[in-house]
Amino acid sequence: MSSQGTCLPDDSMWQEFKLPELLFSDAIKQQHATIENEWDSLRRSACQTAAARALWKHAIHDPFAELLAGETYLRSLYEKIKNDRLNNAREISGVILAVRTLWFDTKLEAALNSFKSKESQLVLLGAGMDMRAYRLSCLRESDVFEIDFPEVLQKKTNILQAALDSSKDHQTTKVMAKSLTKVAADVRDDDWFKKLQMAGFVPQKNTVWILEGILYYLSHSQAMQVLKIIADSCALAHTVLLADFMNESSTTLSSSIFHFYSDWPDQLLPSLGFTHVALSQLGDPDAHFGLMNDPLSLFNKLRRLPRTVQTNPDDGTPCCRLYLVQASGSPKHTTS
Ligand SMILES: C[S@@+](CC[C@H](N)C(=O)[O-])C[C@H]1O[C@@H](n2cnc3c(N)ncnc32)[C@H](O)[C@@H]1O
Repeated sequence: MSSQGTCLPDDSMWQEFKLPELLFSDAIKQQHATIENEWDSLRRSACQTAAARALWKHAIHDPFAELLAGETYLRSLYEKIKNDRLNNAREISGVILAVRTLWFDTKLEAALNSFKSKESQLVLLGAGMDMRAYRLSCLRESDVFEIDFPEVLQKKTNILQAALDSSKDHQTTKVMAKSLTKVAADVRDDDWFKKLQMAGFVPQKNTVWILEGILYYLSHSQAMQVLKIIADSCALAHTVLLADFMNESSTTLSSSIFHFYSDWPDQLLPSLGFTHVALSQLGDPDAHFGLMNDPLSLFNKLRRLPRTVQTNPDDGTPCCRLYLVQASGSPKHTTS
């Protein structure tokens, strides 16, 4: 236990920073060199989130996260965590991403269990280096579709193949889901949903949509278009959307990268056609997983402030919030 009484590991855990040998093999090094030299920040964000899952491995079991993240992003996040520990920071870098992943994992399993028919689909929009199809046994009866830019999907395939080639234990790269299909598409384009259907997605089947770390990279109209397409599918099948939303203040953290925001996704989503919407904030009972217990952490302070408050009264900083939202709908509830 840490000095702040949370389930964070003690200092010795963070000091054990040892990269897997495989990361230094020519095959994997070459893959990551292309990422660093040729990818823009949008695509590289896939490696940053994988680095958080890798360094928070005491909370998340994602055995390939290190290989998929690559040395640069692992070292960079590790240095931030080290400084946070040295400075006795109340918020340790990467904790938001760790809690976010665990929230999506938990809500995904609950949503699949809520479906009457066990045959279901999962669509990961902006899948990046997500390994849910490999690591979650609750997907064993689900067809999984990963949508991302072609080069991101290809890079992930190449890295996993390199890992497979060098491993004697082929079980480790086995897909747990019933099937896994990669769909190369840009969700800003009009044809992404058509591409998804052409890849085998069936709109009449119960579906969970995971939009983890993608909406705020889109413009307002692009994000609304994506959400509308998902909301429309509620008319055909039981549909569950799991997504994280930045509030307006959060987008000011990097206004050239973050665009779409919603301060009230719990009002926005019903207006699009979802019938049930539940919103959680980081640190809420269903969104801390023992990693955000410190009552004086920023997350817990923000939760105590009404959501209408834009500026933190303690220090005048903007209230940057990340909302974790579950929305659902089904044919019997749709009026049109
Ligand atoms: C922050 S990463 C999150 C990846 C993954 N969901 C996770 O949580 O680890 C954002 C991902 O969205 C993808 N992405 C961003 N804009 C996209 C677009 N317009 N079309 C398809 N994928 C996109 C990026 O390539 C990247 O893989």
